[in-house]
Amino acid sequence: MTAVEPPLAMLAELTHRCPLRCPYCSNPLELSRASAELDSETWKRVLGEAAALGVLQVHFSGGEPLVRRDLADLVRHAAKVGLYGNLITSGINLDAGRLAELVEAGLEHVQLSFQDADIVSGDRIAGLPGSQEAKRRAARLVREAGLPLTVNAVVHRQNLDRLGEIIELAVALGADRLEVAHVQYYGWALRNRAALLPSREQLDAATAAVEAARTRLAGLLVIDYVLPDYYAHRPKACMGGWGRRFLNVTPAGKVLPCHAAETLTGLDFPTVAEASLSEIWYRSSAFERFRGTDWMPEPCRSCERREIDWGGCRCQAFALTGDAARTDPACALSPDRELLVGARADANESAPDFVYRQHSAASHRSPDLVSSPA
Ligand code: SF4
Ligand code: FES
Repeated sequence: MTAVEPPLAMLAELTHRCPLRCPYCSNPLELSRASAELDSETWKRVLGEAAALGVLQVHFSGGEPLVRRDLADLVRHAAKVGLYGNLITSGINLDAGRLAELVEAGLEHVQLSFQDADIVSGDRIAGLPGSQEAKRRAARLVREAGLPLTVNAVVHRQNLDRLGEIIELAVALGADRLEVAHVQYYGWALRNRAALLPSREQLDAATAAVEAARTRLAGLLVIDYVLPDYYAHRPKACMGGWGRRFLNVTPAGKVLPCHAAETLTGLDFPTVAEASLSEIWYRSSAFERFRGTDWMPEPCRSCERREIDWGGCRCQAFALTGDAARTDPACALSPDRELLVGARADANESAPDFVYRQHSAASHRSPDLVSSPA
């Protein structure tokens, strides 16, 4: 058994409240209510524990972290304890005053999500009219404030044909980096898989567009892009391996090895009220469960890649097979590979409409951010 090293990064999910309704949302099907969110003092303690544990970067995320009125206070505390603070935001309602407050507090980097380069399509995917214009305004503010900007683009069947335009958009916005992420199919995205899964032809054209852009834009824009699991032969090392590099704290204070881990049944994830981050990282049974290679079944157990991809994604294995301890079907060696290949065949059929979350509980959307979706 290899020694357990400290995590490098923590995702601080400050809230599940969000003005958008992306059909591939990776938050749980059951969202935490505002009243269940950790308060400022608890988050500050958690940030301190993270720094003491060895975490270097904190990603303030959600939902939409800007709905937390104490965000600047938390950013300031993160900087004080020596954490590099990154904001992952939709950019909706980010104004110059709010951004200046965050910069003054020590924010170091912003990741801004875009749903498409086409404004009408982007607004439809986000489920909020006006959202894409608001994001463009937010990007301009971030660059004017002198912060490095990463554009995040989740790609799928309904925007992948415009990946070239998304790359141009990132350049036009002055981004240093573009993270192109294919949808991962668990949680809400699994419900919308037939509407989201791209075809092989779309994927090949998009991959060619990325390769050409990487050459043309070398030194100007870094493009992160990996083939999606549904078309790959081997899986990615999800999260760099379970409990190896990363931890996630949910709005209500559960500590997870990845943002989707609550979709797994049978694991007891501790909260920050029950134990320190250090105790959870080094000793909780949930973090131990899929750490290293001892848990692995065949074919992973005797595979030469077992310490490269760590058997792939536990959440995807669970979503597809009902058993998180199976080899990820994204691996061509998996005995469950057919589950994924069958879904791929469906991608050649006509796509159904998106199923959106219904934000029926008012506490899941921030009142000052809401306009009626189409
Ligand atoms: Fe990775 Fe397991 Fe596939 Fe080997 S068999 S490549 S370890 S997922
Ligand atoms: Fe949970 Fe991959 S998202 S292990």
